[in-house]
Amino acid sequence: MARTIIAGNWKMNHGPKETQQFLSNLSDKYFDKPNVEAVVCPPFISLPIFQEKVPKWLSSGAQNMYFEESGAFTGEISPKMLADLGVKYVIIGHSERRGLFNEKDDDVNKKVRIALKYGLIPIICVGETENERDNNKTFEVVERQVKKAICDTVKETLKCLVFAYEPVWAIGTGKASSGKDAEEVCEKIRGVLSSMGDLNQANEIPILYGGSVKPENLEEYLSQPNINGALVGGKSLDANSFSELLDLA
Ligand code: G3P
Repeated sequence: MARTIIAGNWKMNHGPKETQQFLSNLSDKYFDKPNVEAVVCPPFISLPIFQEKVPKWLSSGAQNMYFEESGAFTGEISPKMLADLGVKYVIIGHSERRGLFNEKDDDVNKKVRIALKYGLIPIICVGETENERDNNKTFEVVERQVKKAICDTVKETLKCLVFAYEPVWAIGTGKASSGKDAEEVCEKIRGVLSSMGDLNQANEIPILYGGSVKPENLEEYLSQPNINGALVGGKSLDANSFSELLDLA
């Protein structure tokens, strides 16, 4: 059975000062549940202060990285730099990266492979656009994204992956997917993973739902057999609402 993860993706919010404030607001909210992991992914510039002040029960993640180790790539951050800083997770292939920064399945795959090389745990985001959904392409799109993201990774590394199903139309819109619909897609993702490895390995991989998650709907997702947590944007920015989500997990 996969572990549960509640992960916050701050996107382009919270510089170092606000990060410190978030952590000090969180300081009286000790969280310790077996098999539930709390993760926050701040912007790059806030990761050092986050790493310095983060309580032991909270893990860190980056929101992106480049797929080379070092070199002439102005403005980029490498997996080696993240690993040196002690970052545990890295979000790869978020729909905002795919949509706004033209990231392709092939880039996602390169990032996944090098993240694994550096011991970073990729949180691989997949999900269909509204148009793809209206044209009944959800399964097709998600299957392609999953397969391409992990092609040429060795079977043994499957257990080091996390997936997040984030339907693009549900992100930041308040139009969350129903638990039942999200479950159908997450079940499909698990099926694809199982066909690429084996069922036992696939059952160990956390599959998160993301898209307008809030305290009022989290339980609906967590009660589904193939959803093992949430990747949360807006509601992870405030220490109180983030810890409310953790309490519900
Ligand atoms: O990665 C999390 C995200 O895309 C969902 O954002 O604000 O809808 O929870 P939000």
